[in-house]
Amino acid sequence: MYQNLEIQIENKIAVVTLNRPQALNALNKDLLNDISSFLDEAKDNAAIRVIILTGSGEKSFVAGADIKEFSDFNGQQGELLAKQGQENVFNKVEKFPKPILAAVNGFALGGGLELAMASHFRIASENAKLGLPEVTLGLIPGYGGTQRLPKLVGKGRAAQMIFTAEMISAQRAYEIGLVNEVVPQAELLDRAKAIAAKIAGNSATAIAKAIYAMNLSDTDKGFEAEIKSFGELFDQPDFKEGVSAFLEKRKPNF
Ligand code: CAA
Repeated sequence: MYQNLEIQIENKIAVVTLNRPQALNALNKDLLNDISSFLDEAKDNAAIRVIILTGSGEKSFVAGADIKEFSDFNGQQGELLAKQGQENVFNKVEKFPKPILAAVNGFALGGGLELAMASHFRIASENAKLGLPEVTLGLIPGYGGTQRLPKLVGKGRAAQMIFTAEMISAQRAYEIGLVNEVVPQAELLDRAKAIAAKIAGNSATAIAKAIYAMNLSDTDKGFEAEIKSFGELFDQPDFKEGVSAFLEKRKPNF
């Protein structure tokens, strides 16, 4: 259905493989449109509770925005590229009400690392390499990298990565908190699915509220959002089920 995505839905988990291996899964317009449309569809699809994003092949998660596609752009077109990308994909990923986990299976460069950073959390395979090489092209990260990287790893580490354009190893990414876990490549998807399965067994309604409140954590609305969301959840069926299950010493069925 999507030309540039392979989608497998099983046990409430959608594994979405970005599939442009000839360009190391670089994000061109069509691939970005596919991701955006898939998210719109997945939002109300009861068969999907958790999304895993990964890249096709063993070499690359995503090697960045498609350089060939913007090579002759002017300033106005460049600004539009960043604006539309951020609005239609990257911000949509971050605000998506179902957890999105990036399984970084190789190069996560430029827009690729930005996509992983917009995801709710990241795990990586041992061979992964992460970086923001935009300044080697005379650019800066345009899909949120200057904003999300400092929040994840601190301003100094982000500055070093952005100014040097150097890639870091998966192990280093783990040490600085950019990825949560590093596993052998052959185990990456199984590990991502195991984490996703844990999440899928919990209250989707509560998790959606957690995502909403966490996304406001850098604003002065965060605590208020938490208080309101906490209260709203008491009126939801999942709260009744969760508490009944606890009292009846059984597993909740959300
Ligand atoms: N855009 C378009 N095509 C890309 C690409 C990209 N970002 N990355 C790789 N490709 C293509 C290559 O052009 C090549 O295609 P051809 O065979 O047709 O020439 C193919 O993928 C395989 O790549 P390489 O031969 O270069 O593979 P390699 O193993 O020698 O190197 C690499 C791998 C280090 C990832 C190298 O491909 C590379 O440096 N890619 C570009 C990384 C980059 O600069 N990303 C940032 C993009 S800008 C951005 O993302 C802006 C933003 O924030 C919005």
